[in-house]
Amino acid sequence: MAVPIIIDCDPGHDDALAILLAAGDPAVDLLAITTVAGNQTVEKTTLNARRVCTVAGITGVPIAAGCPKPLAQRLAVAADVHGESGLDGPWFPEPTVEAEPEHAVELLHRILTGHPEPVTLVPTAPLTNIALLLTRYPECASRIREIVLMGGSTGRGNRTPAAEFNIHTDPEAADIVFRSGVPLTMCGLDVTHQALATPEVLARLDGLGTDLGHVCAELIRFFASSYRTLYGFPAAPVHDPVAVARVIDPDVVRCVETNVAVELRGELTRGMTVVDLHGRTGRPVNARVALELRQDLFWDRVVAAVAALGPQAGIRSPYGR
Ligand code: BDR
Ligand code: CA
Repeated sequence: MAVPIIIDCDPGHDDALAILLAAGDPAVDLLAITTVAGNQTVEKTTLNARRVCTVAGITGVPIAAGCPKPLAQRLAVAADVHGESGLDGPWFPEPTVEAEPEHAVELLHRILTGHPEPVTLVPTAPLTNIALLLTRYPECASRIREIVLMGGSTGRGNRTPAAEFNIHTDPEAADIVFRSGVPLTMCGLDVTHQALATPEVLARLDGLGTDLGHVCAELIRFFASSYRTLYGFPAAPVHDPVAVARVIDPDVVRCVETNVAVELRGELTRGMTVVDLHGRTGRPVNARVALELRQDLFWDRVVAAVAALGPQAGIRSPYGR
């Protein structure tokens, strides 16, 4: 049976791909999309979620906007990576998919308490909404089957030398989530840097011959140019769908169980995930940490999901093809 999931995201090029994988793969049942400030303001990330759903023909999945800023620090967006819109690159038509009037945290609470079985949360953004949910409604924790997040790293960072963007943007929220006791899987840079969208991957998406395939390839091309300029990468690491893929097929990602703590004070290391790979601290296991990606399985699922989606039958393509 399909695993019920909710994506909490800040689209964002790779978030867009995560939404498409979740909506297009039959192994998961996408119950909702919640948005948060991160790559851009929450107004822009919500608009982008609506844009992605519109071009993919994703209807009937509620979208709700959440927190406009981190719990304890000011918001610093990633326009250097994702552009001023948060989703620079392809042209998007005016979205026809609307957002709900409800706050993301209230929507999360309502779905978690009402769903017949526990739900898996897949955050691909700063953890502000999830931390607020667990603080405001602690009883919700038992309704969460697992949190499978994109964020952190066992070593290097990307926002700073030590800290990955999602954790660095709201370290206090990440600290609440990692201490929550909810089963947790961390898909960090160790594994997402293995999700490189090579020229072969781009050719497969373009080769679908659909508007959505071309939009995905355009998104990845923009993302790749940011990564080339900022980090010298040969191709774009498409981080966020890795967390979704882990839920779809756990064999796509190999994990180890260990303790992860979030550094809140370090002058040079605030927002770092301190991963006790060698069991040196004696702290209890609180997470599975992803280390290896089966790239072939991963891209097969992503391309198949994009192929399965597109505007509903009878609706004229906004791209005029
Ligand atoms: C993470 O940061 C964001 O820019 C991406 O969308 C991804 O979630 C990678 O560090
Ligand atoms: Ca993201």
